[in-house]
Amino acid sequence: MIQTLEWTDQGVRFIDQTKLPTEEIYLMCKTHQEVADAIRNMVVRGAPAIGVAAAMGIALGMKTSKAETVGELKRELDQISDNIGKTRPTAVNLFWAIRRMQEKFERVRVRPVAQIKNELIEEAKRMHAEDIAANQAMGRHGATLMPSDGGVLTHCNAGALATAGYGTALGVIRAAVEAGKKIHVYADETRPFLQGSRLTAWELMKDGIPTTVISDNMAGAMMKQGKIGAIVVGADRIAANGDVANKIGTYTVAVLAKENGIPFYVAAPISTVDMACADGSKIPIEQRNAREITHIAGKQMVPDGVSIENPAFDVTPAKYVAAIITERGIARAPFEESLRKLAGSETAVEA
Ligand code: MRU
Repeated sequence: MIQTLEWTDQGVRFIDQTKLPTEEIYLMCKTHQEVADAIRNMVVRGAPAIGVAAAMGIALGMKTSKAETVGELKRELDQISDNIGKTRPTAVNLFWAIRRMQEKFERVRVRPVAQIKNELIEEAKRMHAEDIAANQAMGRHGATLMPSDGGVLTHCNAGALATAGYGTALGVIRAAVEAGKKIHVYADETRPFLQGSRLTAWELMKDGIPTTVISDNMAGAMMKQGKIGAIVVGADRIAANGDVANKIGTYTVAVLAKENGIPFYVAAPISTVDMACADGSKIPIEQRNAREITHIAGKQMVPDGVSIENPAFDVTPAKYVAAIITERGIARAPFEESLRKLAGSETAVEA
């Protein structure tokens, strides 16, 4: 099993996703600042993995704290939370994880400092385990929607590497394959950061799931040629009305899916649903460094001085989404109702 991130006695250990697929290198972060840098620099990426990394970063900050009183420890917790909260703006799982750690602190603050620290470490570990279980549940729900024999297109990496393990969109594909379905994955390469060709293809090859990498601009042609039976992607934030923020290019895929009569599914844990966000227009979109566009493997690909845009995410309007697969069940339109029902329940329900 791929260990995307792990709590160890020495610190938080990450597989360095910037080095894949050619090098499998692990990075040990010994301070919360190093964890924040790992998130910012995309050593770890993908909404659920970012959330668990944030929780572990906070836990590490608590563990290494020299605070002697609960008040001092709380001030440090706030500083660390603030710092980690500034790393990446779009994936709501980051803020969900920070809030959960803060709430845990409030519940245990009457205890001695050493015990509070332990409680926060245990909470971060619990979030890691819960994320894997959520992905497996998502897989069970979503597998039923996959074709029994056919192509499934995905965009970016919503796999084990983007989560604590198993994956959201790739978890659905894994579960379908485990259930005996014959699936051939088409992985969009996902310019500019190449999460599809570098990461999705790497982890599916490890699992022996048949995979073809295509450049992003080939997706429409593959759909038109009848090679794609379904599309499944992850999400960084889902608004209360079902609008979905995900990796740049997802919107294009969703519109093409509609044109070609192919179901477009989103797989994401409830922690990705932001009920406080009414619609997609309110979702903050991260703008990344122009160099990700201007250079490929260190070689300049555009003329000097040309203007560049590099939004890391786009928003797919809910009208293009056939269903949202969560660990608590499958939500369908009208999403205001179905998501509210799922977000408010602790167990699986039909929505
Ligand atoms: O910029 P990234 O690599 O963090 O973007 C990741 C995505 O857009 C994923 O599709 C999303 O986080 C879902 S991961 C289960």
